[in-house]
Amino acid sequence: MKWYDIFSNFYDSSLEKLYSESRKRAIELLDLKSGQTLIDIACGTGANFKHIKATNTDLEVFGTDFSEGMLRKGQANIDNNNWKNTTLFQADARELTPSFVKEQINKDPNFDRIICVLGLSVIPDWEQVLDKMLDLLTENGKIVIVDVFAEKRNFNTWLVEKFAKADLNREIWQTLEKKTSNFHYEYLPVKERKVGGKLFVAVGMKK
Ligand SMILES: C[S@@+](CC[C@H](N)C(=O)[O-])C[C@H]1O[C@@H](n2cnc3c(N)ncnc32)[C@H](O)[C@@H]1O
Repeated sequence: MKWYDIFSNFYDSSLEKLYSESRKRAIELLDLKSGQTLIDIACGTGANFKHIKATNTDLEVFGTDFSEGMLRKGQANIDNNNWKNTTLFQADARELTPSFVKEQINKDPNFDRIICVLGLSVIPDWEQVLDKMLDLLTENGKIVIVDVFAEKRNFNTWLVEKFAKADLNREIWQTLEKKTSNFHYEYLPVKERKVGGKLFVAVGMKK
């Protein structure tokens, strides 16, 4: 069994309090409008969904993750809340080509909004994965990334990296800035010692 399948059993109970406010800010920056389609990449247990639904229920929401365990929790979350128009599928983010996604969702893979929270520090080949995400975005669509960057490495950085199987050295927002327009970046108010570095949200529009 893979680590995130095991982690899914206590992921929400151990982390949700810590990240809840940051999720709200990320979703505010998504600037959701009725009728839009959104995909949450490396959606995990679907912890973003309740904030998305609280903002706008008139959206078509997709979530994808590699871990079956995380997706099981995500599906239970959807079922328990009776959320409509919310579909999950399993995928390695490195394989998210438009044709693959089309096969999974049975419609054209053009998303108005993409969100990825704490995914790009974990997924291998993250730069190629970011390119793949941008390929799935409609013209003028928005992408919002939340992640951690360790400006100064310390014991907590090492601990978080071991626990989350993450690499907190990735300068994800800098790459996003180069590849998008209307770029915006801010730090989120979460203590560095709790997440191993600076938690940031970055948003850009497809060029
Ligand atoms: C730290 S969790 C973040 C989960 C969720 N986005 C959140 O905000 O709570 C990282 C997630 O990345 C997923 N993941 C790891 N490698 C992946 C890959 N190659 N493709 C897709 N998802 C992956 C894990 O299964 C896990 O759900």
